[in-house]
Amino acid sequence: MTTTPEISGTPAYLSGNLAPVPDEIGAFDLPVTGTLPTELTGRYFRNGPNPLPGHDSGHWFAGAGMIHGVRLRDGRAEWYRNRWVRTRSFTEGARLIGPNGLDRTAVSANTSVIRHADRILALVESGFPYEMTPELDTVGPCDFGGRLTSAMTAHPKLDPVTGELHFFGYGFMPPYLTYHRLSSAGELVESRMVEVPGPTMIHDFAITENHVIWLDLPVVFDMELVGRSLPFQWSDSYGARLGVMDRAGRVTWFEIDPCYVFHVGNAREDASGRVVLDAIRYTRESFTSIWGRISGSDNPAAETGGAVLHRWVLDPETGKATEEQRDDRAVEFPTFNEDLLGRDSRLLYTVSDDAIVKYDIESGATLVRDAGGQPGEAVFVPAQDAKAEDGGWLMSIVTDHSGEGSRLLVLDAADLEFVASVRLPRRVPAGFHGSWLPDL
Ligand SMILES: [Fe+2]
Repeated sequence: MTTTPEISGTPAYLSGNLAPVPDEIGAFDLPVTGTLPTELTGRYFRNGPNPLPGHDSGHWFAGAGMIHGVRLRDGRAEWYRNRWVRTRSFTEGARLIGPNGLDRTAVSANTSVIRHADRILALVESGFPYEMTPELDTVGPCDFGGRLTSAMTAHPKLDPVTGELHFFGYGFMPPYLTYHRLSSAGELVESRMVEVPGPTMIHDFAITENHVIWLDLPVVFDMELVGRSLPFQWSDSYGARLGVMDRAGRVTWFEIDPCYVFHVGNAREDASGRVVLDAIRYTRESFTSIWGRISGSDNPAAETGGAVLHRWVLDPETGKATEEQRDDRAVEFPTFNEDLLGRDSRLLYTVSDDAIVKYDIESGATLVRDAGGQPGEAVFVPAQDAKAEDGGWLMSIVTDHSGEGSRLLVLDAADLEFVASVRLPRRVPAGFHGSWLPDL
């Protein structure tokens, strides 16, 4: 069990919709409202922090990972179960920086869950993935046969054409940034150091058909914060840049106005060879505000309006980046049809307070659907024979306004109309990222 300090007063990240659940449970034959499409046969898994009862990890991002799973088959919701990811931090109290140096198996594995080459991985950006079974038992840490020599981001990118999984790891010691590529068979076939000026928190990145897009932004590692909180904070001196890396590893950097990005939407190359990147952008003020709240700061900054949809266009001919705010609504957790990852797409799905918001980024049109509670990330699931970019469904765990219960909501991605919802046997704390894993 973890050795994190006991709670003295309840910080915001252990309260309300973020309050952890105390145990692991299971339930079968869950009540369904509406009609679940029979094509949705598989598992919806969602990861998030859930510290053990009586423990305070010091920051929302640091709590022990727990995956909530819902099994759908042939129009029925067969089961729900929630399981902690049994990392060495969870079972033995191991620490990332221990007596024998850096231990990348001592992680929370709390951020996302993916499947690649038949391997289900729970991910957190501070260390190695943990492999899970389809029933959410923990298999153990995964370093791809000893080849992984850095941490692994929780936001790898699957190239829909090649089947390769691109990812990176960042660290607080050089090399600060390392790019990796897994083959479609799950073999780590490339690792490449990328030069950046310093150790920054890099939560996400993007790929296009021919490039990898880096976000080197001014949230910088601070040694003085080690042991007190997540050791990163905004820097007014670091600057901000986006990098476009080609297959040979050459990076062209573009200076941009300082900001922070947790999550990108899609990226692509346009007909002129420019790189277009859509992302959810925080200003200095909105970043420091949210960082204060989720780290339990005694003096959280005033509400600042959150993060908004933003577009950068990077032109290798001129070496210049242009940028444009695309909306003024505070949103997060962008998702899209990942069959188009790195290619032309125009539709993006986000969550905003109690609503799911669909953007047509090209026309500027938005469609807003009240979720009837607080929705988590809305995962896009393509329909098998869909012709349109939005042919498919959105799946999101929504917690009731009362805060007492949750459901798995399924919407039609085209019009955001209700399709079905599955009543879950308990409240699911707000968390991070999920995946739909269709039966193979
Ligand atoms: Fe994330």
